[in-house]
Amino acid sequence: MTQDELKKAVAHAALDYVVEGKIVGVGTGSTARLFIDALAGMKDRIVGAVASSEDTRQRLEGHGIKVFDLNEVDDLPVYIDGADEISGEMHMIKGGGGALTREKIVAAVAQKFVCIVDSSKLVPVLGRFPLPVEVIPMARAYVARELARCGHAVDVFEQDDRPGGLMVQGIPLFRLPRAVVAGEIEQVLATPGIRLHLGKTADPE
Ligand code: A5P
Repeated sequence: MTQDELKKAVAHAALDYVVEGKIVGVGTGSTARLFIDALAGMKDRIVGAVASSEDTRQRLEGHGIKVFDLNEVDDLPVYIDGADEISGEMHMIKGGGGALTREKIVAAVAQKFVCIVDSSKLVPVLGRFPLPVEVIPMARAYVARELARCGHAVDVFEQDDRPGGLMVQGIPLFRLPRAVVAGEIEQVLATPGIRLHLGKTADPE
């Protein structure tokens, strides 16, 4: 199977987790896009969706799926999204698509987070994909200095013209070009204003 076919397969498999008669949380990225296309086939059996980015909102609405503001939603049984990398220990990196904060917030509201990944996302050690780091705007220079002090040459994405891109939402994005090792994580996370989008899966299915 090609990677696209694999992504399509996991996107379709995720439909099993969608709770009929409810709102579903939807992630961002190419796998999430394929999930949205699959979700369109059962749009009459869900109340609607909450989007983790503007890209996602537009695609959902394009399929005629009602998109709710998260503030209107207090019952979200499931959030479905992709990931950038996943290790044998089931640690993962997300946020590469530039929707870090919104993804984390929607995932936090949902009772269950279903992460859909194909085998190309499996890595022996996390870090092949530049690690996304997000900071609140006023902390940008400070966080960049702190990361540099930890030995990370950060790329700052000043421009982002994509709809839903981080600068559109006023949030700068840094990427760490190498894996952050245990120990460093605590140091980085102790820096005020910084959010790393790291995750650990529970029971892979
Ligand atoms: C979006 O910000 C990310 O967390 C995506 O879920 C992740 O980048 C996976 O994207 P793909 O499905 O395009 O690989």
